[in-house]
Amino acid sequence: MAALPASMEHVDRQQLQDSLPSRIRYLHQFLGFGEDDVMALLEGQSHLRSAAPMITTKVYDKLLEFDVTGRIFTQRPRDTRIDENPEVWAAPDSDAINTRKMFLRWYFVRLTSDPTKPEYWEYLDLVGRMHSNQARQIPVFVEYVFLNVCLGYIQDIALKAIMSLPDLSDRKKVNLVRALTKIIWIQNDLFARYHVTEPQKPIETVHHTSDRHRQRQQSPSAGHQADEDKFQGKSFQNVNRENSDSGKTSLKPSRPSETHLTFFHD
Ligand code: HEM
Repeated sequence: MAALPASMEHVDRQQLQDSLPSRIRYLHQFLGFGEDDVMALLEGQSHLRSAAPMITTKVYDKLLEFDVTGRIFTQRPRDTRIDENPEVWAAPDSDAINTRKMFLRWYFVRLTSDPTKPEYWEYLDLVGRMHSNQARQIPVFVEYVFLNVCLGYIQDIALKAIMSLPDLSDRKKVNLVRALTKIIWIQNDLFARYHVTEPQKPIETVHHTSDRHRQRQQSPSAGHQADEDKFQGKSFQNVNRENSDSGKTSLKPSRPSETHLTFFHD
């Protein structure tokens, strides 16, 4: 049993699959999503929201360019939209498409809201789940190939819109582009989470003596419980409320070498 090097953190592979907080924590740490990204997103919020109608229109124009995605949005009643051979194609300005555009505009409002809130990431996860036949009264299944490329298209238009903003400094544009890019990749992962089936035993587990591992060996339920904590109140590891007077919640990582994220909570 080899000990992990001091600079290396243990990530529990199973927890990445089972626990949304664990998965988000890992994605944040890997992408370096932190306070600067939060600030950039909140500062750029109004710009992104004003671009949302344009982005939404372009996305639906693009989806309707191809029969394979266009057939999902027929002009028939919603419960027949998965008809494999629709006789009527939805027009970009039809009621059917305008309703769907509204969904996507609402998505942009949520995407540009406060990412320090657990609900933010839970919503992104819900959107992923909703496109995989789950979590909706009327189930929707959209294959990953369409979701992935659509997200890439959204990213392309959004980045172009940001870089064309006349009243934002170059530094702020770059910060906003970086923050949005990280979020879009996290959304992409949360689509993949419900579409990609991982092999049962991808690679041999490396044995080590991390605290978590030892804890799980001594009491299997104890380590699991820590990861099962909901976002609320314990959203990331070792939430430190020392600074609660200032309205800040400091999310201290478990190891001194990690990035120190400080998120603001109401
Ligand atoms: C990749 C980026 C995408 C995002 C962020 C997104 C987001 C959303 C959201 C927020 C909803 C509303 C769900 C609800 O509140 O019930 C929705 C519904 C839906 N989405 Fe997506 N979507 C994406 C891609 C796609 C693609 C590529 C397709 C199909 C080609 C698609 C087809 C649908 C359908 C059919 C619904 C249900 C609409 C209805 O009930 O009438 N989505 N989507």
